[in-house]
Amino acid sequence: MSLLENLNWRYATKKYDPTRKVAQEDVDKIVEAARLAPTSSGLQQFRVIVVSNQELKEKMVPIAWGQEIMAEASHVLVFAAWDRYTEERIDKIYDYTTDERGLPRGRFGSYTDKLKAAYLPQTAEENFVHTARQAYIAFGLAIAQAAELKVDCTPVEGFTTEELDELLDLKSKGLKSVTMLPIGYRDNEDWLAPMKKVRNPKEEFVIEY
Ligand SMILES: Cc1cc2nc3c(=O)[nH]c(=O)nc-3n(C[C@H](O)[C@H](O)[C@H](O)COP(=O)(O)O)c2cc1C
Repeated sequence: MSLLENLNWRYATKKYDPTRKVAQEDVDKIVEAARLAPTSSGLQQFRVIVVSNQELKEKMVPIAWGQEIMAEASHVLVFAAWDRYTEERIDKIYDYTTDERGLPRGRFGSYTDKLKAAYLPQTAEENFVHTARQAYIAFGLAIAQAAELKVDCTPVEGFTTEELDELLDLKSKGLKSVTMLPIGYRDNEDWLAPMKKVRNPKEEFVIEY
């Protein structure tokens, strides 16, 4: 099936079959799609936390405003972004990139100086708006990869970020949660499964000049 067919197949699953688990190989592929996402300046400003522990998933239900999908799904992927830019974080990823490419460290020094001049004077909140945006790109790719594998998922923004950050101890890692992606297999009784996918008509969606 083509990517477009799979994107038509997928939907924001509202009820999972709790007895069906996603194979580790498929979890790995979904995470890999996120890891391969492009990021602004290649800074890779986010991480993915993979939660399979049932107790933790159950604790996520009240945090996600009572959404039972958190506990029913096989795994929950949490997309979390840097809580702010720092000189060390920018240098670390650029040192790693130059090392991996066999280039001298500091090769991109004038560019990273520009990044530091742009981001470091900003507030942590302003930084996080930018880092979180990068996580959304990966989130979209993970959703598409899940569809390609015929794994169901639900994009979730309906949760209290501070509570999730505390549950997963994200602050100590310099991260703040952005979105969650429960993955698994739809339950036969999911009311949304048979519903038509509704999108704006192409003529309205595309503005051509
Ligand atoms: C960023 C984002 C956050 C969302 N948050 C939730 C959520 O918390 N709970 C939920 O059931 N669906 C959530 N959705 C699913 C949307 O309602 C759904 O994607 C949209 O209605 C389109 O339907 P479809 O994905 O089934 O095609 C979210 C979607 C996105 C993209």
